[in-house]
Amino acid sequence: MPLDQAASRRQFLKYLSASPLLAGASPAFAEGPAAGVKLPDPIMWAPLRTDNLIKSPKDAINVFDFEPVARVNIPPAHFGYMASGIDDEVTLRANREGFLKFQLRPRRLVDVSKVDMSTDILGVKYPTPIIIAPVGGQQSFHAEGEIAVAKAAKAGNHLQILSTSTNTGVEEVAAARGAPLWYQLYATNKWEVAKAMVARAENTGCLAIAVTVDRSGGRNQETLFRLVPTDTRDCNACHERGSLATNLKRRAMYKDLDISGLTHTQSSNMTWDFLKRLRDTTKMKIVLKGILAHEDAVLAADAGIDAIIVSNHGARSEDSGRSTIDALPEIVEAVRGRMPILVDSGFRRGTDIVKALCLGASAVCIGRPYISGASAPSASRASSVCWSCCASSSTPPCSRSARRPSGISCRTWSAAPRDRGNDNAVLIALFTDIHGNREAFEACLTHAQRHPIDRYVFLGDFVGYGADPGFVVDTVKDFAARGALALLGNHDSAAIGMPERMNDEATLAIQWTRRQLKADQLEFLASLPLEAEDDDRLYVHASAAEPAAWDYVIDEHSAGRSLRATDAALTFCGHVHVPALFHMTAAGTIAGFDPDADVAMPLNAQRRWLAVIGAVGQPRDRNPAACYALYDDGPRTLTYVRVPYDVESAARKIRDAGLPPFLAARLAVGH
Ligand code: GLV
Repeated sequence: MPLDQAASRRQFLKYLSASPLLAGASPAFAEGPAAGVKLPDPIMWAPLRTDNLIKSPKDAINVFDFEPVARVNIPPAHFGYMASGIDDEVTLRANREGFLKFQLRPRRLVDVSKVDMSTDILGVKYPTPIIIAPVGGQQSFHAEGEIAVAKAAKAGNHLQILSTSTNTGVEEVAAARGAPLWYQLYATNKWEVAKAMVARAENTGCLAIAVTVDRSGGRNQETLFRLVPTDTRDCNACHERGSLATNLKRRAMYKDLDISGLTHTQSSNMTWDFLKRLRDTTKMKIVLKGILAHEDAVLAADAGIDAIIVSNHGARSEDSGRSTIDALPEIVEAVRGRMPILVDSGFRRGTDIVKALCLGASAVCIGRPYISGASAPSASRASSVCWSCCASSSTPPCSRSARRPSGISCRTWSAAPRDRGNDNAVLIALFTDIHGNREAFEACLTHAQRHPIDRYVFLGDFVGYGADPGFVVDTVKDFAARGALALLGNHDSAAIGMPERMNDEATLAIQWTRRQLKADQLEFLASLPLEAEDDDRLYVHASAAEPAAWDYVIDEHSAGRSLRATDAALTFCGHVHVPALFHMTAAGTIAGFDPDADVAMPLNAQRRWLAVIGAVGQPRDRNPAACYALYDDGPRTLTYVRVPYDVESAARKIRDAGLPPFLAARLAVGH
């Protein structure tokens, strides 16, 4: 007998309602939910109605509300071009689904009444970490094309990256934006074409050239191919496809260029040699767009590339199945702070952006959402989308101070899932001898923030030598207000006027520092203890033997004095600027060694240990990378972490401040 689907469903639900597993459940369950019973997923009650379009950007609840509008307002072929992924569009979906794999781990009771989302990228401060990604041929979506988007970017003060395939020339777009752009480059296979475009962008005042490195072949855009035939307009009227030259007639950056011999606008022959050549051609910063593997990110940093954009081209270059949020952590880890990392592809919600920033990105580029926004009725369209991205979907607030380069509080949010097996174990991040070196300190904090840190410990010497003592003191103070431990160092002590014997450079630096610090900063330094203990650990700036004497722990003898002055199983100190690890057996024998960087060293519980953490802000072990440490008291492992940072900026600031040039020069050699 053929089965009636509705009848068998009723039968099945009746069976379920009779099941002992559901005993006590409301009979309404078998009939479907009674009115007023809310299903767990709000989407059941308030679905996005694609037939019920928003009338104005103000009606948008989130950025997804703009896409159905674009679907209606943009001709099908152009919409298909924008919306299409590649092949089965697995990567297109992965870009969204990737965000579900990362959960935010919010910390509470942090003052977020003032939110600062600003970010520094390549020496420029932007008020928002949302960047306008390059999208080609924007007149396909809006009559004013890139000019409309430039006006929107100006309204929200967003950095705009202009596509090579722009309908309007870089000069006009830059004028409409009213601030320097970045220029995205499709290099083609002909050097002269790339060179001419780069020169044009440079003459217009563009700050950076973002070289797309992920489009070296053809692509199968099935959504586009299916939608093109549904477009009733005469496509040939605009896209004269007779030859590449005629096809490029509406692409302003090819105007007057000799494109003979060019078969395609993409570049299938690009290698690292191209970038060397480019470096010799332009003074603009060079950014690589389309990096997805940590190996390439390291090659880019080694090649002196200024920044990278982790991108799969909005899932438009290949269907690899991997999202950019998945790729980001391995890249951040490998780059180790050597250059800013931007990310794009699939960003729609504020929480997506926060996750990327927490994982170490400096900024996030958005593309399709602002194009959809540009197609919506009313003037402020694309800028509303940027606003929606940022403000809707309960974007977590960020602490204003102690900002990571991204503007997100280091310790307010962490996207890293914590799964360390032992709930009582604490992970401690230790920093010492920061010495007013903001660049090194921020690089270390950014690095540490990728771990689920339970306790931040600052072992002193926040000032002296470097040009940003105020920033460092404020940051430490802010951490301390949230439970971090901060100790006094000898330079901090000298800054508050305590007598201290120092060499000439250090004395000059302290005199200068004292003039920079505000009353509340000096007060904070004056409030710091010389040592502190928690559990079986002792923290102190110099030797524990007599903390106020500021003795150095430099060998077995001085380590022995310190170890014998305490019962603590572990002592952590700084002061020396050279990482070292000493241990004492039950019989009192002391041995020491130079710890390897980035290796989690087990600290055997049968011995007592003294760890001299290197310096964040002025390493002296001939390795210029900043040093901090992570101690995990679950497995009792200590890791000395080395973090390369922008030494040149830190050194330049020291020179500009009129501090002894030696203090700048020594940063580069780490001595
Ligand atoms: C251009 O960059 C495109 O993906 O179509």
